[in-house]
Amino acid sequence: MIGKEMLDAFNEQINAELYSAYLYQAMAADFEARNLRGFAHWMELQAKEEQGHAKKMYGFLVDRGGRVVLKAIAAPPAEWKSALAVFEEVYAHEQKVTGLIYKLVELARSENDHAAEVFLAWFVTEQVEEEAHASEISEKLKLVKDQAQGLLMMDSLLGQRA
Ligand SMILES: [Fe+2]
Ligand SMILES: [Fe+2]
Repeated sequence: MIGKEMLDAFNEQINAELYSAYLYQAMAADFEARNLRGFAHWMELQAKEEQGHAKKMYGFLVDRGGRVVLKAIAAPPAEWKSALAVFEEVYAHEQKVTGLIYKLVELARSENDHAAEVFLAWFVTEQVEEEAHASEISEKLKLVKDQAQGLLMMDSLLGQRA
């Protein structure tokens, strides 16, 4: 059985993961509107991953006898000024999420909830990947600046994400 404080914190995190999915889906829609379908494809997969994160936590709460409570998901922005602006926001957002995961780990430790701590280790590693990808893509977009050629090249590259 999971403790009340830990349960509430996980339910909050499920909401944060679903917001991430919603945010990335909005970014995919913005890329679609610019005909950058490779970028849109990348974001689409990113949104799916975030749904997967929420579902993983959902399953963990169920296994621990905790009641999943879904809350309202805030509306994400609809438009960004450039591909770079999108990825800078992804990077900042992922750093914020890393902070939230660290807080959960700290709570798990203070409650001596070893199961939660071990479960969260996967997310700690996942955040390293998420930040690295977002940072790499934004650095590349900084090199590209507003050159159409570079942007189209990146569009076809990101479109290959499996
Ligand atoms: Fe996530
Ligand atoms: Fe993420």
